[in-house]
Amino acid sequence: MNFIKAILLLLFVGVLGAAAFIYSGTYNIAADTPHWPLVFKLMETVRQTSIAAHAKDIQVPPLDDPKLIAEGAEHYSGMCTGCHLAPGMTNSEIRPGLYPQPPNLSQHVHASPAEMFWTIKHGIKMSAMPAWGTTHDDAAIWGMVAFLQKLPELTPEQYAQLTGNVAKTEEGHAHTHSHGETHDHAAASESDHTHADGDDDHDHDHDHADHADHAHAAATEAPLVLDGLKPGAVPAAETVANAFHAALQAGDRAAVLALLAPQVTITEGGHTQSRDEYAGGHLAEDIAFLKTVQSKPTSLGSMPMGDAAMVGSESEIRATVKGQPKVMRSREMLSLKRENGTWSIIAIRWESSSADAH
Ligand code: HEC
Repeated sequence: MNFIKAILLLLFVGVLGAAAFIYSGTYNIAADTPHWPLVFKLMETVRQTSIAAHAKDIQVPPLDDPKLIAEGAEHYSGMCTGCHLAPGMTNSEIRPGLYPQPPNLSQHVHASPAEMFWTIKHGIKMSAMPAWGTTHDDAAIWGMVAFLQKLPELTPEQYAQLTGNVAKTEEGHAHTHSHGETHDHAAASESDHTHADGDDDHDHDHDHADHADHAHAAATEAPLVLDGLKPGAVPAAETVANAFHAALQAGDRAAVLALLAPQVTITEGGHTQSRDEYAGGHLAEDIAFLKTVQSKPTSLGSMPMGDAAMVGSESEIRATVKGQPKVMRSREMLSLKRENGTWSIIAIRWESSSADAH
């Protein structure tokens, strides 16, 4: 009897203690402080077992219909990238502050299609994941599930093509390119070249000052964000990026071109060029420009994406423009791909702005 009384007393004290703890406000509910490991483990387990149990009887329709995938791509790019990112995106304004952190769905997928469907439709309590089923029908949600099966394999270019973002952010240039209809753009860069061919240093400077301003204007549309990249994440890709910078700085054309894949696209100030266009024009200008300035790398980081990788970097460029010293910040995002063990650059995006303008 005494034994049972002792147990009851202990239980009572336990419940009282728990109540005192809950009402005291001791537990920190702030999103910028992690859960206690035990609480985290508990919530993680509840989430996993709950989703698995609720998704177990869901019938998965065929997910390889291109139309379904295309619809999902459109929904995803419109509603999900702020939290779950996309190829070529390293972070967003909202993501760093979320807890739990939304998984980067452009990199890997853990959940099964049925679990994804259930999660997207019903959302997850006590997290930022909304229940999209309240505003979207099942067909739309299956479209997103179908698209998510493909997403981790997409390069930034393929993603942009699928979601139509290239046409919006790059004024259609990159898009036109990929379909080989380069007429108007080719004409535009032709006139650029003739202008730059006036072989004197002033011309180059001038041309580039314009360039920087132009890039700045375009940068307000879709700024490159480099925050999520980690130094040393993909050492082999970073080595290629460093070799690329060194070759440009040294004016070694052959070494620059050796690192560029045949299908490479070079985007600067909202204009995208092919390898041949770049080799025939702006490469010479970039080399000439780098000879007249001091360029100092300020950061470099990378992110793995299967057989692809992103390498982002920033440098500070001190130049003299029309006799005035000018400090510019230049940002670069390289997409690289590994083929037969060799990394090559498949896309370059450059952006520059005056360091004082912000
Ligand atoms: C406001 C931020 C936010 C938005 C917008 C958002 N999600 Fe989420 N999502 C989350 C968070 C946070 C989690 C993780 C919750 C957790 O771990 O408890 C999550 C989890 C998921 C998961 C589960 C992933 C896994 O591996 O378990 C899927 C799938 C998902 N989201 C899909 C989507 C789709 C599709 C959209 C757009 C229609 C979307 N999310 C929009 C925040 C968001």
